[in-house]
Amino acid sequence: MPTTTRRTTLKALGTGAGGAALAGCSANPPTDAETETARVTNETTANKPTTQRVAADPTDVPDPIDRDTSETVEVDLTAREVRAEIEDGVVFDYMTFDGQVPGPMVRVRRGDTVRVTLTNAEENAMPHNVDFHACYGPGGGAEDTTVAPGESATIQFRAEYPGAFIYHCAVPNMDYHIASGMFGMILVEPEGGLPEVDREFYVGQHEIYTDKPAGEQGRHSFDMEAMQAEEPTYVVLNGQKYGLTPDRFGAMAAETGETARVYMVVGGPNVNSNFHPIGNVWTDAYRDGALASDPERFVQTMNVPPGSCMVGTMDFPVPEDIKLVDHALSRVARKGMLGVVSVDGEANPDVFDPDPGGDGGGN
Ligand code: CU
Ligand code: CU
Repeated sequence: MPTTTRRTTLKALGTGAGGAALAGCSANPPTDAETETARVTNETTANKPTTQRVAADPTDVPDPIDRDTSETVEVDLTAREVRAEIEDGVVFDYMTFDGQVPGPMVRVRRGDTVRVTLTNAEENAMPHNVDFHACYGPGGGAEDTTVAPGESATIQFRAEYPGAFIYHCAVPNMDYHIASGMFGMILVEPEGGLPEVDREFYVGQHEIYTDKPAGEQGRHSFDMEAMQAEEPTYVVLNGQKYGLTPDRFGAMAAETGETARVYMVVGGPNVNSNFHPIGNVWTDAYRDGALASDPERFVQTMNVPPGSCMVGTMDFPVPEDIKLVDHALSRVARKGMLGVVSVDGEANPDVFDPDPGGDGGGN
């Protein structure tokens, strides 16, 4: 059986049956985690493939589902360990799904069969797996997708319940892997689909723990002690400081009069998000991505725990740059957490007038 081969190889890597048994969200880290961590951290000092950008394109959202029947959906994910800059001159070794943070958004319909193949890229140093919160099964699939570098594993599950769910790596050092970038979202649409909107965006927040102060130039190594203390160096949207802003990889764009839905996942591993659109409001907000429930209306700040999601819509009655922030604002001012939605269009002084005493206003 391929499974036996996998586990044998992993045992050689120091993550054998014990690791596999512990895979998944309900597990505690193994008692020898620190020993393993020291070894694993040394391995990461080897040169990694370098990339400019790990920040996922927030407009890279699969099309809404337009069918009334169930299908089998193939999902291919590749674990990639890559080196990139958190901000200018600050180099960090990420772990990712498909070289991006968050990993690719997966979109299926309730009742679909999801066939997942996880490949661990040959040049990687560590074992990886994937745990889907949309999955009934051991470790959300983590146990049976645990693969060593150069190997692949396939599982399938039926998407039994609707909602927006996180997926994440869940090897024994799962906090280390998630803090390095290994998380993403699977959206399970209800049978009837979701209300139509003009635009959809996909973003993910998580925190990074490094051995140097934020902004200090050079290569930052992962800091296990800072993670244990839950004191992150960076808190970021899509993996990199101020990544989704005009000065870095560009803002998200919209026009006045449109509506947009934001799919947001919090990888954590430890820090929640207090997700607020500055200059706007979540018109409809599904807490924890629980799409089978009625949405809450006009929510200012959504608390999104690690290992969860939110789905929120926004209206754009006026032109403005909307800042997507964690309203624990030191994370914005000092730790890199910010995304921008740039709304273009005609001024609408009935809704907002910057100069009500002036001769026309609105410019
Ligand atoms: Cu989990
Ligand atoms: Cu991993």
